[in-house]
Amino acid sequence: QSVVAIVPAAGIGSRMGANRPKQYLPLLDSCILGITLQLLLDHPDIARVVVALHSQDQFFSTLSQAQHPKLHTVEGGLERANSVLAALQNVHETNAWALVHDAARPCLTHQDIDRLLAARQQFPQGAILAAPVRDTMKRASADGCVASTVSREALWHALTPQLFPAQELQRNLAAAIAAGIQVTDEASAMEWAGVHPGLVTGRSDNIKITHPDDLPLATLYLRHQRE
Ligand code: CTP
Ligand code: MG
Repeated sequence: QSVVAIVPAAGIGSRMGANRPKQYLPLLDSCILGITLQLLLDHPDIARVVVALHSQDQFFSTLSQAQHPKLHTVEGGLERANSVLAALQNVHETNAWALVHDAARPCLTHQDIDRLLAARQQFPQGAILAAPVRDTMKRASADGCVASTVSREALWHALTPQLFPAQELQRNLAAAIAAGIQVTDEASAMEWAGVHPGLVTGRSDNIKITHPDDLPLATLYLRHQRE
């Protein structure tokens, strides 16, 4: 059963507010997307990487990975879920697993990928990397005050990669989108179809670069990992 990595990289990075989509901002000796792709391309268990790009993308061809034989590109969609679906439509291997990973998470490690891949034994329905919530959680009321404290015992941050049987994920993602469900990660679409994905504890340095402050943090994490 082959593993195909799916990388949604068709966003515009509006919260980053930079002069280009955030995945193309410089990071160490490369850019955010370059580091993410290299990490996936280097993993021995990943057969192919399918990356979804914006229809007007002007930067991808400048990456050193652009011509890699294991890499394929597709045109993304309006929302992240549409981009993932477009990439999944490029997966024709029978019984493949789709490992979906945000372009904007360059601090992922092979150790985390290995742990997620190993979890297929325990969770044949699929699993996601996640991190236990650390802070005390509050539910807000409409007036901007605390309505109640929510127990953090059972709360997790959903991270990527998320790993599912590719065909099932494609079917459920398409159906959830068609039903107008808010699908912010792959697990949401699987849950909507009645599946309960496994939770695999991931490293907390696997951050999604979202705001300008996240860039120096990612630089620090990557340097520390490479020490
Ligand atoms: N993404 C995508 N297609 C979209 C929207 C997002 O492939 N239509 C990708 C982004 O490129 C990113 C990942 O999904 O790698 C996670 O999305 P997010 O962090 O929200 O990135 P952006 O949508 O680009 O940022 P913003 O929401 O601030 O505009
Ligand atoms: Mg977004």
